[in-house]
Amino acid sequence: MKRVLTGIQATGKVHLGNYLGAIKPALHFQSNHNCFFFIADIHALNSVHKKDSLVESTLDVAASWIASGFDYKNHLLYRQSDIPSVTELTWYLGVVTGMGLLQRSHVYKDATQKGKEVNFGVFAYPLLMAADILLYDANIVPVGKDQKQHIDIARDVAISFNAIYGDVLILPQATIQNNVMTVPGIDGRKMSKSYGNEIPLFCSENELLKKIRSIKTDSSPLESSKDLKSSLIGELLSFFSSEDEFNEYNLKMLQGGIGWGHAKDHLYEIINQKLTPHRKVYIDLMNDKAQIMTILEDGRNKAKEHASRVLQRIRSAIGYS
Ligand code: ADP
Ligand code: TRP
Repeated sequence: MKRVLTGIQATGKVHLGNYLGAIKPALHFQSNHNCFFFIADIHALNSVHKKDSLVESTLDVAASWIASGFDYKNHLLYRQSDIPSVTELTWYLGVVTGMGLLQRSHVYKDATQKGKEVNFGVFAYPLLMAADILLYDANIVPVGKDQKQHIDIARDVAISFNAIYGDVLILPQATIQNNVMTVPGIDGRKMSKSYGNEIPLFCSENELLKKIRSIKTDSSPLESSKDLKSSLIGELLSFFSSEDEFNEYNLKMLQGGIGWGHAKDHLYEIINQKLTPHRKVYIDLMNDKAQIMTILEDGRNKAKEHASRVLQRIRSAIGYS
């Protein structure tokens, strides 16, 4: 059975972009694949330096995976930091990787272009990500479009390693939902925790409504014809409604008489209806943090077994046996 692996950074609350770009597509695999989903809490250190925030975000990502429907009992849900051998593998991968490859990573480029002082963690980010994937012999990595480059880097690094040490590492493949390339945030840019434009997946109904009402729209009058297809509201609506439902509502908008305020309330109703049963599971879990920790401990034990087997294979190819 093929192995599917993906991670979400513990850098804040999971948002609709994470859900549509990574969680939902990843969950499709659980009926006939072996799924390893994890909380990237080492990657998170590039931006989170407060202990409480790291812990809270870690619990939020774990609860979000479970509340979204991840069958953690038959698969694996774990914290990246619980398997420290991933950092050992990062080093082995580092010695077969040219600086140029890492300098081309958009995370590094963005940071340098913004004039930020780049530390080793930001520079080595794609290497740690490659280690996340290669340590578990993952075949398929479902991610949002923004992460595709990192999976390509992981493949290149594995090819370089294998060229030296033989066929040791499995080459991973990215899968990206074609219709959910990049989910926009409330300001129209890519929804991201780092832009502060996100709609948290499991925020309260009030916050959800407030966020949706703050989405940018033009100021066309109530009577005017409006086309959802060329609007931010429409883009978000298309992720949560069927084509028929979308077209039906768009027809009403095109006829005029419906303002953006109404469209926002409609979007809220649709999203809220989809999320309500899951939100309940999320809230129950966040109120029982011990239960989340027990689930993560179980995940750690299972992940450790897999990781030590693969690491053993790598160490022995290098000559450490
Ligand atoms: P963020 O950009 O908010 O910090 P992460 O980097 O933790 O989110 O991303 C976790 C996963 O969610 C990745 O697979 C990423 O590609 C996906 N993702 C993040 N934002 C979006 C978005 N706006 N649209 C689609 N997928 C996204
Ligand atoms: N870097 C990814 C992101 O920001 C999260 C991540 C870390 C990841 N390691 C991974 C995703 C391994 C897929 C596979 O979205």
